[in-house]
Amino acid sequence: MAEPKFAPSILSADFARLAEAVIAVERAGADWIHVDVMDGHFVPNLTFGPKMVADLRKATRLPLDVHLMIERPEDWVDRYADAGATYLTIHVEASNDVPGALAAIRGRGVRAGLTLNPETPVEAVMAHLGSVDLALVMSVHPGFGGQTFIEGALGKVKAIRETLDKQHLTAELEVDGGIKPDNAARVVSAGATVLVAGSAIFEDPDGPSSALRKFKMAIRG
Ligand code: DX5
Ligand code: ZN
Repeated sequence: MAEPKFAPSILSADFARLAEAVIAVERAGADWIHVDVMDGHFVPNLTFGPKMVADLRKATRLPLDVHLMIERPEDWVDRYADAGATYLTIHVEASNDVPGALAAIRGRGVRAGLTLNPETPVEAVMAHLGSVDLALVMSVHPGFGGQTFIEGALGKVKAIRETLDKQHLTAELEVDGGIKPDNAARVVSAGATVLVAGSAIFEDPDGPSSALRKFKMAIRG
């Protein structure tokens, strides 16, 4: 099985010590840093904004994978591009102009991502796959870390993988929510290339290096 990239979600880290958290997972072998931006409207929780992304940009060389759980994401593209986001992922439910928002992201030289909530049918993203650098399947209801993986996400991952391959598209296929060493192999088998994990990495009592080792061992089998 091809080894996926790992994108630890700093939502589960200590917000007062984010730079240390990012440096720790970078040392542990993380590939990307997943940054969950929440506005208290699109999801019932609030995290941080562009300044945090700009400050994190100074703390690590890893790609910043910014997941916007906000309404009208198109209004924020310039600010997150200026802040140094590597990937900027919007929710298909949050924008009235998904093609326009994706084009605006790419127009700023940022890689464009598109995601969907667990209750949104996978068809909602299919028409846009040719215009994205990353498709993200949510495997929990967005808003909080530490929730249980929703099995229905696997069918969406397989459907997107099939469409990407059929159309010879090379977008990353990322899965976010409830990913643990005991379900990671199934998610990768379904076609994911990037795994987001928050609580499994930052709340592992043995630390992030050990957490990433557990994931890699589980996937290698
Ligand atoms: C949920 C976020 C996730 C979250 C994942 O709204 O998008 O990135 O941090 O956390 P775990 O891995 O604990 O489910
Ligand atoms: Zn996320």
